[in-house]
Amino acid sequence: MTKEIKVKDLNTDKFISEKVAEIVASVGNGTAINALSGGVDSSVVTMIGHKALGKKLRTVFIQNGLMREGEAEKVAGYFKKMGVTVEIIDARKEFLEALSWITDPEEKREAITQTFYKSVFGRIVRESGARYLLQGTILTDVDETVAGIKRQHNVFAQLGIDPQDTFGYHILEPLIQLRKDGVRMTGKALGLPEELFNRIPFPGPALAARIIGEVTQEKLDIVRKATSIVEKLLAGSGAFQYMAILHDDRVTGMCDGKRDFGRQIEVRCWDSIDARTATPTRLSFDILEKIASSILKSVPGVVSVTYNIATKPPSTIEAV
Ligand code: XMP
Repeated sequence: MTKEIKVKDLNTDKFISEKVAEIVASVGNGTAINALSGGVDSSVVTMIGHKALGKKLRTVFIQNGLMREGEAEKVAGYFKKMGVTVEIIDARKEFLEALSWITDPEEKREAITQTFYKSVFGRIVRESGARYLLQGTILTDVDETVAGIKRQHNVFAQLGIDPQDTFGYHILEPLIQLRKDGVRMTGKALGLPEELFNRIPFPGPALAARIIGEVTQEKLDIVRKATSIVEKLLAGSGAFQYMAILHDDRVTGMCDGKRDFGRQIEVRCWDSIDARTATPTRLSFDILEKIASSILKSVPGVVSVTYNIATKPPSTIEAV
């Protein structure tokens, strides 16, 4: 049983120095590797790992082509300012190929997971010679695995490392006693920029969770652009999460004075405490109009913008 550290008992300086010491003791003269996604958990792990190991830690950011506009460069830039080198691995083609022809939501998620672990990160870990893998697992992940909400992960099997060969490989999970609030507090104490430890939730499958039907380069470009507009205009809304979703249907619109089939974007903005239930935020019509006109003006091919007013349940927060 992992012993939880509650926020009220968390002394971040003490926690950070204990974890740094544990990593130093485990890795010794070896080398370690970790994948940074820009989410709060992997960002905090990267910083703790860097404090402990400096150049003996290799941090990779896998550019899967499914992220927000400029995300890889932005995250790597934040870390550069803090003295941490982040290697961006361009795997866009591999992910897009793995996703081609897939329309089923679960198959989409599976293709992304498999491509991440088996093809891309697995290959990097195997080739790196690093024997220590730093992971941002938190206590909630453990609970959800036990409850069957998340799948039990045998990380080495996922990485395509033969169990016979796992001898000598070690996983280090410095955040496993914390929940999200504790991780955020630790991120703040580590000096991470607010943008990294206080972001709205973003799903692992990224923009692929917001494209209904097959994920293609064209659809990714549309949803990415619309996402950036929605995030910019709703940044001050105080809502729990907001997003743009690209529908698979085409709807009739006018293009250069002619009737044409165009794309349809659905805007969602949620009030929620823990994402288990959620209600649509009562945005003003003014802001909705601003979002619609900005999307129609800046995202080619879109002729319809709608706002979701259903609650979760029965809806989910993401569309896929
Ligand atoms: P749903 O769509 O299930 O989302 O109502 C609940 C919360 O979880 C996020 N989400 C994910 N996060 N991997 C993640 O790391 C995923 O596959 C995933 N799917 C949904 C979603 O953004 C929301 O905050």
